[in-house]
Amino acid sequence: MKSTQGWRMGTKETPMLPKTRQRSNLKKPTWIIVLVSLVSLFLICAYVYPPQQFAACYVFSYHGCEALQNWLPPALFRGLTDDEFASRVVIRDILNSPPIISLNPKIAFLFLTPGALPFEKLWDKFFQGNEGRFSVYVHASKDKPVHFSRYFINREIRSDTVEWGKISMVDAERRLLANALKDLDNQHFVLLSDSCIPLRSFDFVYNYLMYTNVSFVDCFEDPGPHGSGRYIKYMLPEVEKKDFRKGAQWFTMKRQHAIIIMADSLYFRKFREYCKPGMEGGRNCYSDEHYLPTFFHMLDPTGISNWSVTHVDWSEMKWHPKSYRAQDITMELMRNITSIAENMHVTSDKKRQVKITPCLWNGNERSCYLFARKFLPETLNKLLASVVVKQVVPYRIGCSRRWLLFSSARANPESQASLKPGKVKKWPSVTSMANFSLV
Ligand SMILES: *[C@@H]1O[C@H](CO)[C@@H](O)[C@H](O)[C@H]1NC(C)=O
Ligand SMILES: *[C@@H]1O[C@H](CO)[C@@H](O)[C@H](O)[C@H]1NC(C)=O
Ligand SMILES: *[C@@H]1O[C@H](CO)[C@@H](O)[C@H](O)[C@H]1NC(C)=O
Ligand SMILES: *[C@@H]1O[C@H](CO)[C@@H](O)[C@H](O)[C@H]1NC(C)=O
Repeated sequence: MKSTQGWRMGTKETPMLPKTRQRSNLKKPTWIIVLVSLVSLFLICAYVYPPQQFAACYVFSYHGCEALQNWLPPALFRGLTDDEFASRVVIRDILNSPPIISLNPKIAFLFLTPGALPFEKLWDKFFQGNEGRFSVYVHASKDKPVHFSRYFINREIRSDTVEWGKISMVDAERRLLANALKDLDNQHFVLLSDSCIPLRSFDFVYNYLMYTNVSFVDCFEDPGPHGSGRYIKYMLPEVEKKDFRKGAQWFTMKRQHAIIIMADSLYFRKFREYCKPGMEGGRNCYSDEHYLPTFFHMLDPTGISNWSVTHVDWSEMKWHPKSYRAQDITMELMRNITSIAENMHVTSDKKRQVKITPCLWNGNERSCYLFARKFLPETLNKLLASVVVKQVVPYRIGCSRRWLLFSSARANPESQASLKPGKVKKWPSVTSMANFSLV
């Protein structure tokens, strides 16, 4: 496509104004007026017509347009390819259509696991009494799990091998979403792993997710080696480096967002081909951390929260987040986690910039987390006990120590060394579900 070439050239070549033929028979002031009007016309055409409609420019002069493309900032002038144009039209249309109204809206819980689900009993307690308001889907990529809870029996979908950091992880997420979308009552979709636990009562989670106006997809710009450093130029022209984003894999999303992921093959293809471990120059990229954050940043940036409602503790500054053992499980820990009301992102470059933002739920500050992960199976009994004891206020739980929150996986552990966790503000612990009504 010509416009694409123009854009590529535009990044390298010197600015150049359109050449205008001299007309010797015109007097000087008229000549200037003509020139100024011509330039203005091109400029107007550039701004009024979206970049994909270059035909409009050709009406005036093909060469003039090309020169102008080189002269104006490249991003403004890059023409969309046919595929991008088609993709954006479809996605815009889906986002603008009114959501399907269901008389029996449900939340779909999507479990991505290699095999067994060690916290099935805990989830069983969580789901109990809420039949008809949720559905469960299990993608077991290695072994077929033996189930302990009736809510999980026969809920496995057809699955395939999942390799850490590879595109097969995103394939599995898409497979789960596709299966859950078949049920029109599913209005919100939650991705969970085998090490995830619920932090709140079902009602709390249901209201938090069902009545939110955004999807909880983690997304931030990390100019460092573990962020944009993973970008490779072969993603051009569809994905530019400036749009490349990072975020933890564990999302919750609205139905419309799940549908646009199903509708997308263009951007997904780019990530499948060019965001994987072991690329040229020893570059590693992990699609599960970049595809969705980048996709939403490009196509619906205001439709996502930019943080994940699944808590994880990076305070140990290792390559993997802290795994909770049985002795770590205390009411205080749970209370600490649930009281956090600000999320934190840290860049992986030398500056190690810390960005703290309040967790806003429909514009109001709320506690950030509904789920938490990296709990070892040995914690089950303690977790079950805390639920049973606190049946009236099911999950009045929280955690502590100086919290270093870092919502994105596989970050450079060193990059967190300069954090000042004391700055993270706490949301007052919930004393009653009635006082935390989200409806
Ligand atoms: C998320 O970040 C984008 C910028 O990337 C911003 O436009 C959007 O408003 C943010 N979402 C919320 C809920 O603040
Ligand atoms: C969500 O609600 C907040 C508060 O009313 C508002 O500022 C924000 O723009 C809304 N976002 C969307 C995507 O509707
Ligand atoms: C909970 O938070 C408090 C205050 O930040 C801290 O002193 C305490 O150690 C934390 N407890 C646990 C178990 O993390
Ligand atoms: C809600 O909180 C207020 C104080 O903020 C308290 O007086 C009231 O008793 C609480 N209600 C319930 C049902 O716990």
